Amino acid sequence: MSASPCVITNQDIEFLIREGSMHTPFAHNLIPAIREGWHDLLDEPGEYRSQWTFAPEEHGREIGYFRRDGLMRNPGSAPDDFKQFFHFYHDLPGLLASRRVRYQAYDTWMDDMEALRTRCARMAHTVALGLDRMYGLDLAERLRQSEHVGFLRLLSYDLVRSREARREMMGKGHTDGSYLTLHIWDEYSCLMLGREADGQILHQGMPDTALVFFGNQAEKETRGMFKSMYHAISGDPALVPADARTRDAIIYFADLA
Ligand SMILES: [Fe+2]
Repeated sequence: MSASPCVITNQDIEFLIREGSMHTPFAHNLIPAIREGWHDLLDEPGEYRSQWTFAPEEHGREIGYFRRDGLMRNPGSAPDDFKQFFHFYHDLPGLLASRRVRYQAYDTWMDDMEALRTRCARMAHTVALGLDRMYGLDLAERLRQSEHVGFLRLLSYDLVRSREARREMMGKGHTDGSYLTLHIWDEYSCLMLGREADGQILHQGMPDTALVFFGNQAEKETRGMFKSMYHAISGDPALVPADARTRDAIIYFADLA
């Protein structure tokens, strides 16, 4: 595999198809500054943070800052994790400006996120080009047209409250709704791909490495040729220190419009 995340070989793509996922180097120097800005925002008063929330009723999707407090949303469904998260979309600065939110202190932070978002979009595009070449698809063009649909998710799980609630470690197993997910950074590299119960753990996260895998959109678009990848957080205490208070992760979702 190449040292640059934007040079993905045909062998990588073949591996992605065969195994449903691939690792690719992604030690990006923007990540520490992006985490720092995220924690600065988490330290702001709640009234300020709530100005950064753009809910689906208004904007069709969750944009900006959100928190979940372990509540059961729908009868019969599993309770939410204890977590705070942030969705960075291309249009977030404009939304903040239209709401007259004072966000000057976060200008550079958002520039960094846009730079990382663009880099991830390029990586997703490169994978799509490889898939198109091998399978005669037009994913790259469709992704290009959907460029602003891709977004970065910053996650901060509250491990203390999860433990108090005697909840299994956060991150219930699921598949993503995306076309392609780039799990680009994880504080403890504890994401597992595949179903443990089936003895089918395919990949485990690694430091400075992105995990790239398909979501439901890819499976639907290709009528099952590419399989949506089940993933979950490992409960292995060797990975996450017993006294850890939070777990952060940064993920890019490449979606088709
Ligand atoms: Fe996921």
